[in-house]
Amino acid sequence: MSKKILITYASRLDATTGVAQAIGKTFTECGAQVDVLPMNEVKDLDAYQAVVAGSAVRGAAWLPEAMQFVRTNQKTLAKKPFAAFLVCMTLAMPNGEKYREHISSWLGPVRELVRPVDEGLFAGTLNISRVESFAERVKFRLSVLFGVWKEGDHRDWKAIHAWAEKVYPQLGG
Ligand SMILES: Cc1cc2nc3c(=O)[nH]c(=O)nc-3n(C[C@H](O)[C@H](O)[C@H](O)COP(=O)(O)O)c2cc1C
Repeated sequence: MSKKILITYASRLDATTGVAQAIGKTFTECGAQVDVLPMNEVKDLDAYQAVVAGSAVRGAAWLPEAMQFVRTNQKTLAKKPFAAFLVCMTLAMPNGEKYREHISSWLGPVRELVRPVDEGLFAGTLNISRVESFAERVKFRLSVLFGVWKEGDHRDWKAIHAWAEKVYPQLGG
């Protein structure tokens, strides 16, 4: 079997793509061979010794295509070291760390299908002008106005790097 690690992701507005690439970079620095691919481009999981899958959060859940990826590949993923991560805005709130346990529960449906060896919870970005729906844009503008969320890139590259370094040995690296 190949010694490659797959980092696969579902993203709508690119923040999760960047997180997946950063995880891939850390693994590469650790000496691994990696592929970093959006879930819809993954063909053959047999080619990988381990899989890391991550998704943007919308409506307190992984994106539907990310859940579908785990459902479709449940049997194969259960036989390999598998780690999961999510990218969300709640962790970027001023008191976001307080909600870590609650945020972790959003990975519950993933856990029910395949138990990850580790789980990463990361703050993402908020760029309201890029949000597709008018109603959501209004909602986000209000939440910024009331100080709940702040626009901008809240990704904590140190935390992402530290998680990737911690999870790497658990993936057979
Ligand atoms: C329509 C929409 C719904 C969202 N729902 C949540 C949510 O329920 N909880 C949360 O913490 N973040 C939520 N977010 C914030 C996203 O998780 C965050 O912007 C993340 O960086 C998106 O990743 P992406 O750029 O890879 O799509 C939502 C964002 C959008 C646009």
